[in-house]
Amino acid sequence: DESVVRRDRFSGGPARSFLSSLDDDERIFAADLAVDRAHVVMLAEQDIVDRETAGEILSALADVEAAGHGALHEGEDVHEAIESAVIDRVGAEGGKMHTARSRNDEVATCIRYRLREDLLALIETVVEAREQLLAVAREHTETVMPGYTHLQPAQPTTVAHWIASYEQALQRDTARLLDAYDRVNQNPLGAAAFAGTPFDVDRERTATLLGFDSVLENSMDASATRDFLVETTGAVATLATTLSGLAEDVIVMASKGHVELADDYSSTSSIMPQKKNPDTLELVRGRTGDATAGLNGLLTNLKGQPRAYNRDLQRAGRHAWDAIDSVTESVAVATGAVATADWPAETLAAAAGDGFSTATGVADLLAMAGLPFRTAHELVAEAAGDIEGGDAPDYETIDAVARDRLGESLSAYVDREDVEATLEPAESVAMRDSAGGPAPEAVDAQLSAAEETLAAD
Ligand code: ARG
Repeated sequence: DESVVRRDRFSGGPARSFLSSLDDDERIFAADLAVDRAHVVMLAEQDIVDRETAGEILSALADVEAAGHGALHEGEDVHEAIESAVIDRVGAEGGKMHTARSRNDEVATCIRYRLREDLLALIETVVEAREQLLAVAREHTETVMPGYTHLQPAQPTTVAHWIASYEQALQRDTARLLDAYDRVNQNPLGAAAFAGTPFDVDRERTATLLGFDSVLENSMDASATRDFLVETTGAVATLATTLSGLAEDVIVMASKGHVELADDYSSTSSIMPQKKNPDTLELVRGRTGDATAGLNGLLTNLKGQPRAYNRDLQRAGRHAWDAIDSVTESVAVATGAVATADWPAETLAAAAGDGFSTATGVADLLAMAGLPFRTAHELVAEAAGDIEGGDAPDYETIDAVARDRLGESLSAYVDREDVEATLEPAESVAMRDSAGGPAPEAVDAQLSAAEETLAAD
């Protein structure tokens, strides 16, 4: 074992703490104990270590667990420190624990073991968030609000349609995290340093004991790869980007008075007494940077590392942990802010007509009556151009343009009342009832489908 040699050779010196990951390794302390136990049980079952020694090692591990990570001292990482603590208790025979393994397969196993828990916790948080969002959406299928493209008023939609759009994205985020989980949940143990071992280890057995679905076959790949970390952090960064979009939308809405955040999700100014700021959502947006940084940091760490093990890997995990911690907290905060917010229906409905955002609906109505859509589009655009201040042109204005351009009245195609109704934001929403559209019944269908998917997740 090269680590024993190293302990004799390098017992101190200026690089000692530089080499050490003991503090960082607190995160995998419990995982390492689980991995040690599974390994020792397997060694005993395979008659590689006698049962009595295995029993002593296992009770020493229980002791080490009770003393906690803080009681560890000797060793440049948690693996050495736990081994030293076992040897302190059992004597030299305790050193049999490290038979047929290396810290290389050990640490890879620990990271996977711990990451599994973190991934499950994150997935659970996302699923709860989706549940909350769908419940709020149900209440707002008729709450008309302005929809934007390029941050310019575009077409009226509803609060429910907007919320459901993020829930859909979170469905895919959930699927990506679950997919990553499958490849995290594989056993590298038994690969040893990278080159296997002469001992008759049972890798399937440690996989079972540790709850892994399968064994990573090639021992060089098993010890070396961190692609499972990249995949997970990629899914986490994608989720963070979803949340950032949601946060940004709410920040903009709050700036226009289109949403009133609950006090719990707002912050005040230390100088301006009147201020109520959406700081929670700004921090959600900010934490997306942590996740993106985590993914970049990880890829930068891994890029160009040769097979099979290099100490750079000791710095890989932290990027994934930073990303996952940052995002896990953001999920609940972002959703909580939306779920507890007040949506001022009247203000929203008034704003929904701003900037003549019902124009497309009028053009659609004319096209449904047989006018080529492009002609309808030009008529409405010209009528809008005749109006000062971006307000909606009334029937008369559009009709005047039609007489001028087509040589006939609009009434040859549509009823006046229908045009006037279409100019109303609520009607404009109601007519867009295509699958996935914002009309209340179309959103109801989306929400029902989303609820089913949620129940299956
Ligand atoms: N602490 C190291 C890590 O996290 C594991 C040690 C493997 N060290 C070695 N020299 N082979 O990657």
